[in-house]
Amino acid sequence: MLLHIPQVLDAEALAKTRSLLASAPWGDGRVTAGTQSAQVKNNEQLPEDHPLTLQLQQIVMDALAANLLFFTAALPKKIFPPLFNRYAGATNAFGNHVDNAVRLARFGEMRGKRVRTDISCTLFLTEPDSYDGGELVIESPEPALDRPRVKLPAGDLVLYPSSSVHRVEPVTRGARLASFFWLESMVRRDDQRRLLYELDMQILALRETHGDTETIVALTGTYHNLLRMWTDT
Ligand code: NI
Repeated sequence: MLLHIPQVLDAEALAKTRSLLASAPWGDGRVTAGTQSAQVKNNEQLPEDHPLTLQLQQIVMDALAANLLFFTAALPKKIFPPLFNRYAGATNAFGNHVDNAVRLARFGEMRGKRVRTDISCTLFLTEPDSYDGGELVIESPEPALDRPRVKLPAGDLVLYPSSSVHRVEPVTRGARLASFFWLESMVRRDDQRRLLYELDMQILALRETHGDTETIVALTGTYHNLLRMWTDT
């Protein structure tokens, strides 16, 4: 499932993030890439263990914790500490690749923990009209289907299955700053997660119109029983 979650960062969090990033010590993005992706990765990234990174991670993690749509769509179990990257100038693109299936967190509270990457997330930090290019393109296993080209307002997030081949198109003007991270979901399978998300959204819509009727209470029970069947906490 690919989902756009608007305004994960509010204006205040976004302003704080940007002011911290203004003095960021950008380094080579290939340090966290696997062997295949290192061949096509050409961007800059904040060092994982820099104090600034830890400060920025806290802002993103607090925003995620407060976002109900993110929770219901991702059903997160473990979130890899968010990283921050920059595409601009000569380091401006990341060709087709897949994200590593398992990542080892090396710093902070998650240090030493392995995270299976079920879902990949990009949190956009730059307004889309201030740069050209930089779309996140997600390849579809169905050649006939349109490939999503994602370029979102600053503060918005996209989540998509980590199993997909994807790339970031070259940035040809300005700079594209983003936070990116992976998560292990309580529900491993994308199709099950999608069903749960759709069911949850429909129950919410029904509750808005009809209040808590007996049928809605029963449906809510069905949602939780499916979640219980499919979760691995
Ligand atoms: Ni990737």
